[in-house]
Amino acid sequence: MTIFFEKNKKSINIKNILSLIKKNHTPIWIYDAETILKKIKELKKFDIIRYAQKACSNIHILKIMRKSNIKIDAVSIGEIERALAAGFTPKNNEIVFTADLFDKETLLKIVDLKITINAGSIDMLEQIGKISPGHHIWLRINPKFGHGHNKKTNTGGENSKHGIWNTHSALEIIKKYKLNLIGLHMHIGSGSNYNHLKKVCDAMVNEVLKLNQNIASISAGGGLPIPYHSNDKKINTKNYFQIWNEARGKIAQHLKRPIELEIEPGRFLVAESGILLTEVRAVKKMGKNNFVLIDAGFNDLIRPTMYGSYHRISAFSKSGDLIKTEKKIDTVVGGPLCESGDIFTQTKEGNIKARKLPILKAGDYLVFHDTGAYGASMSSNYNSRPLIAEILFKNNKFYTIRKRQTISDMLKLETECLIT
Ligand code: LLP
Repeated sequence: MTIFFEKNKKSINIKNILSLIKKNHTPIWIYDAETILKKIKELKKFDIIRYAQKACSNIHILKIMRKSNIKIDAVSIGEIERALAAGFTPKNNEIVFTADLFDKETLLKIVDLKITINAGSIDMLEQIGKISPGHHIWLRINPKFGHGHNKKTNTGGENSKHGIWNTHSALEIIKKYKLNLIGLHMHIGSGSNYNHLKKVCDAMVNEVLKLNQNIASISAGGGLPIPYHSNDKKINTKNYFQIWNEARGKIAQHLKRPIELEIEPGRFLVAESGILLTEVRAVKKMGKNNFVLIDAGFNDLIRPTMYGSYHRISAFSKSGDLIKTEKKIDTVVGGPLCESGDIFTQTKEGNIKARKLPILKAGDYLVFHDTGAYGASMSSNYNSRPLIAEILFKNNKFYTIRKRQTISDMLKLETECLIT
């Protein structure tokens, strides 16, 4: 959990946030570089950490990853371009493209740059094999079961569109085009329960034995959870590594060669580094419910609306005092969007769920914690609201790493189209 409220520390604190607000509009995303570096260290036992950049794809965050020898996962042509802009190269499998399909533009780019792919469908193998025989590939296997913090983030089993079901057919295409099979990959879901790990590892070992190909690597995928609630337990990364390391050992023994063990986290590396800073703009009582309305909506942070996700909320006043009143009241926190689901305190089923918060008034600030992953990267322009700024706190200074989008930026793609 991020601790942003310790005064007199060289960390993000209320005092320096207040000076930031003087120069920037709220809402703002703020990330702490130090937290990212700490999280990277926790996974150093894995041979390769491959950052799933979909969690937070800002180029400046990617640069932090690259400087720490992290490799990168890209899931679109945009993410490939971001990786290149941050200094990653297609050499040495630095960039791997993971998907279940290619659009034509992306396929040509990948072939041109010789980017390794992690294929989630037989069609992908056929399409790349035809124009780029010998291409370096991984197979993303659907282990026929999955898990996730929400059914929308479960990526295994027959209700999921992800991964290859019939690996035998994949092997036929690999042989047909002499594709270079580097490794096998499994990702059963995001925020997956620790208890499922053993099952995934067994599935990986079985798949490797069944295919019996001379692969060099396996990937544990992503999905490591983080403690969003104050009483959530942190995942034990040593145990996590240990279980995967045993699977790697069995595979290495069977294939009689060293096997590289990759992990592909997104959330684990960045979620706790980020906050969303917002201002309370209106407070109203609607029957029994106390609504506190802020200047950020689900166009900025969609996780609560999409999955019923919980983000810890702290409040501080204009004068910089942490609001910690003895008396807390049931509060529903909503945003500015013209849509009833624009609520930050709701259940997975979409019902409002009041949170005990101190008594708030317009002008107070609310901080949403652990929003570094799937925050900015899932934002949209819904209700024609511009994308908000992203700020990085590094070496005791704030840097703007994405400017706030202007209204004219947003309208440009349309105003430049002339109809006579
Ligand atoms: N690898 C693959 C193939 C993935 O599909 C994903 C996430 C990851 C790695 C990284 O998963 P992580 O370590 O971040 O859990 N928007 C959702 C999460 C969906 C993630 C989709 N794939 C959320 O806000 O929780």
